[in-house]
Amino acid sequence: MAEHLAVQDNIGTPDLNGICTLDAFEALAENRLMRAAEVILNQGAGTSAGVRRNCSAWGQWAINSRILVDIPDIQLRTTVLGTPVSLPVLFAPTALHGLAHPDAEVATARAANRADTLMVLSFTSSVTLEQVAVHPTKLWFQIYWSKDRDYLRHMIDRAATAGYQAICLTLDMPVQPWLGAQMRQAVRETAEIVPAHGMARNIFLDAAMPWLHDARLTWADLGWLISICPLPLVLKGVMTADDARLAVEHGASAIVVSNHGGRVLEDGLATADVLSEIIAMIGGRIEVLVDGGIRRGSDVFKALAMGARAVLIGRPVQWGLAVAGSDGAQRVIEILRGEMASVMGMAGARTVGDITQGKIARRVHFP
Ligand code: FNR
Repeated sequence: MAEHLAVQDNIGTPDLNGICTLDAFEALAENRLMRAAEVILNQGAGTSAGVRRNCSAWGQWAINSRILVDIPDIQLRTTVLGTPVSLPVLFAPTALHGLAHPDAEVATARAANRADTLMVLSFTSSVTLEQVAVHPTKLWFQIYWSKDRDYLRHMIDRAATAGYQAICLTLDMPVQPWLGAQMRQAVRETAEIVPAHGMARNIFLDAAMPWLHDARLTWADLGWLISICPLPLVLKGVMTADDARLAVEHGASAIVVSNHGGRVLEDGLATADVLSEIIAMIGGRIEVLVDGGIRRGSDVFKALAMGARAVLIGRPVQWGLAVAGSDGAQRVIEILRGEMASVMGMAGARTVGDITQGKIARRVHFP
């Protein structure tokens, strides 16, 4: 990694127990990350309006508190595609953790393991999928559908051999996103940092360079991928009920309702806005996960009340990494665990199975 991009380590590691919200992690990470890394992590497509919308949309909903419910203990455990996790919060695939911490995805995997949750490794990770898989972490591997099908197949086989438990196929970036000036500058400054697999990043700056994702794909192509994929296939980037129906009909094992954290389409809906409709369409046939703007245990609770199996968090994991490496990423999860347990108790939910639609309500006043 280029020297000038390393995390500023002259600030010292703060007392993690003194950090009690993900917002606090964000503020601390901003001071620790070099400017280019901070821009790449936190901004989105265009003016980043989609990033902000994802976060604020969860606020349209509120928790219905209940009284005099017998709650001997609170259980956050669940399973995702049969894999047990200690809470319904997973690590989303995000590129280049080496921009946040020198130990990169190895530190993230360690945090996921200690928190007993599942990590989805990005195709564009700083270290190879094999380097991450040496840790006893529950792992899925995320891929983009490159035009080179032999390479795609090779990467899936590598992931299966290394012990990954599912393939997460991200489909919401068929073409290049339109980036704002700060993001372009940040990508330019970091262009020499190449992922361990995937594509060179200066491709984002030059429309003339060949885009490696295959934009000609249709649902008919998915059958081929499922036929060669020895692992369950999770489709990430579903934002409409129609696409959710097609995903089920074409054999997806699960979907992730996601708009890539507002990084690809500035003017789409927030994931919190579309989740309920998609879940109604799926009708329990496959598991539905969601990500985008989850910053509180109450956001996790709301997603589960709408019917999601679990949520994924993207940026907050890298804030944790930037602040305190593996310990920081783990603290991010522990904050969500603590907040979520508290909200469940107030709402009269002992287990995640008790978190039903009736436990949330639309706010009357929502600015
Ligand atoms: C992403 N995301 C992403 N998704 C994916 O499928 N493959 C990838 O390589 C990346 N890379 C990536 C980099 C960065 C810096 C960010 C912020 C996001 C999207 C990610 O998986 C997830 O959908 C969002 O991050 C969720 O939104 P929040 O939690 O960041 O608000």
